[in-house]
Amino acid sequence: MGNTYRDIPSLMHHKERELFLECLRHAPDGDCVDLGVYRGSSAAMMCDVRGTSSGVWILDNGCRAVRTSDKSGIDDALRRLKALGYTPKALRQNSFDPPPDGIRVAALSIDTDHVGEVVAKEMDCWRPTLVPGAIVLLHDCNKKEFPCLVAEVDRRFTEPEWEFLGQAVSLRAYRLRGEVA
Ligand SMILES: C[S@@+](CC[C@H](N)C(=O)[O-])C[C@H]1O[C@@H](n2cnc3c(N)ncnc32)[C@H](O)[C@@H]1O
Repeated sequence: MGNTYRDIPSLMHHKERELFLECLRHAPDGDCVDLGVYRGSSAAMMCDVRGTSSGVWILDNGCRAVRTSDKSGIDDALRRLKALGYTPKALRQNSFDPPPDGIRVAALSIDTDHVGEVVAKEMDCWRPTLVPGAIVLLHDCNKKEFPCLVAEVDRRFTEPEWEFLGQAVSLRAYRLRGEVA
């Protein structure tokens, strides 16, 4: 087996990975954005399915940096991703800071703070960048561990513009309704 996302240690259950990959395969054209990178596992899955030419963006603010010398918290993941031949664009910022100008997002993965207020800010910030048919993947939607996160996700994603695609363990997938261009 060649170099793939499987070479990066993952915090995701294999069933979550399957749903993640399946949704990415069916996402419309556009950029992919990974909010919360850590070791780079979810980012590598994005690169693996989409290729990096269509634009894979990885974002982390470093609050869970792997090493203290890794001030950005993203450099370590970037090194791993580059070693696998992936070249995503890195954003060293908070998940709710303004997105890059002109970005058109087809797939958004959210795996950051696991707090209701934060996911609310993230969606306020990134929702305007989503293209019709865009996929949103939310990790750690686990009521016992993260009740506030789940309450906010339940509230926001039951709006009629969202279609529920499925849940695997604690990964939820939604699709923004609308005609894919
Ligand atoms: C659970 S890990 C991400 C795991 C990754 N998605 C994977 O599958 O391997 C969470 C990451 O989010 C980052 N983080 C937490 N809150 C953040 C925020 N508000 N903005 C940006 N990054 C954040 C942490 O530094 C950490 O690297």
